Amino acid sequence: MADPWLEAYNFAIEIAKKAGEIRRASESEIKISTKSSTVDLVTATDVRVEKIIIGALKEKFGDDVFIGEESASKKGACILTDEPTWIIDPVDGTTNFVHGFPFVAVSIAFAVNKELEFGVVYSCFEDKLYKGRKGQGAYCDEESIQVSDNKDIKKSVIISEFGTDRDRSKVKKICSTMERILLIPVHGIRGTGTAATNMCMVARGSVEAFFEIGIHCWDVAAGAVIVQEAGGVVCDVNGGPFDLMSRRMMCANHADIANRVIKEIEIFPSDRDDHLHIVNPYQAFKLLL
Ligand code: IPD
Repeated sequence: MADPWLEAYNFAIEIAKKAGEIRRASESEIKISTKSSTVDLVTATDVRVEKIIIGALKEKFGDDVFIGEESASKKGACILTDEPTWIIDPVDGTTNFVHGFPFVAVSIAFAVNKELEFGVVYSCFEDKLYKGRKGQGAYCDEESIQVSDNKDIKKSVIISEFGTDRDRSKVKKICSTMERILLIPVHGIRGTGTAATNMCMVARGSVEAFFEIGIHCWDVAAGAVIVQEAGGVVCDVNGGPFDLMSRRMMCANHADIANRVIKEIEIFPSDRDDHLHIVNPYQAFKLLL
């Protein structure tokens, strides 16, 4: 039987690499606005690159559905249906991009019947293309990648992030969770500032786990396929099944590591992506003009 998604997969790889040219964006292009909070940044480059990616995909696969980070800010909610759906983060690690911290990724995932078929993450400054396709393994460039085989939490490195919410009680829970994990003790806690790249670090075996509450579907959709295809697990921060729209995600090399970290996570409430509301519609509108 012909492979139904091969063309889409190959095109996603091509377009992610092209979009990765954002690393050459000139300083004058880095016009910053904010979205859900004063630290949730968006630049004109995010909007421009998303337009380029969605424009190219629409030209080729016009009947598909598109969920893009910046267009979602404009629309307000993203509903995942059974239709073939592209889930795109044009610049994952916008804060890094603005500050010249060299971890920025383009993340493109594709889902059908609400199941992720493939994910592509181009880590622009490292110039590494991570990809995974359901049932067909995970790769960094052309090299096959696997998660770490370490199941000893005390010999592990865990990634988490502070995210973009500065609500005091949430920040306290994040800090307390980090402290508890550190005191297990683990070898270390890290964070690249891009969820997509963090997930690729799990997939390639550089760290054992990554979790975050407050991320969005476009930050983690592609990484979820890559981690699973590299032999890892992706679940909710309470150990339940992964829900792409829940804004919560845990991924690890092994369920034992995931469950041990989960014991230390102080969960706090977060909106769902399918209930998203616009906080600053005027700015989002201006950027899209
Ligand atoms: C952000 C990054 C960051 C994570 C934030 C995300 P963006 O995505 O993935 O690592 O901590 O929660 O919002 O806004 O740079 O695309």
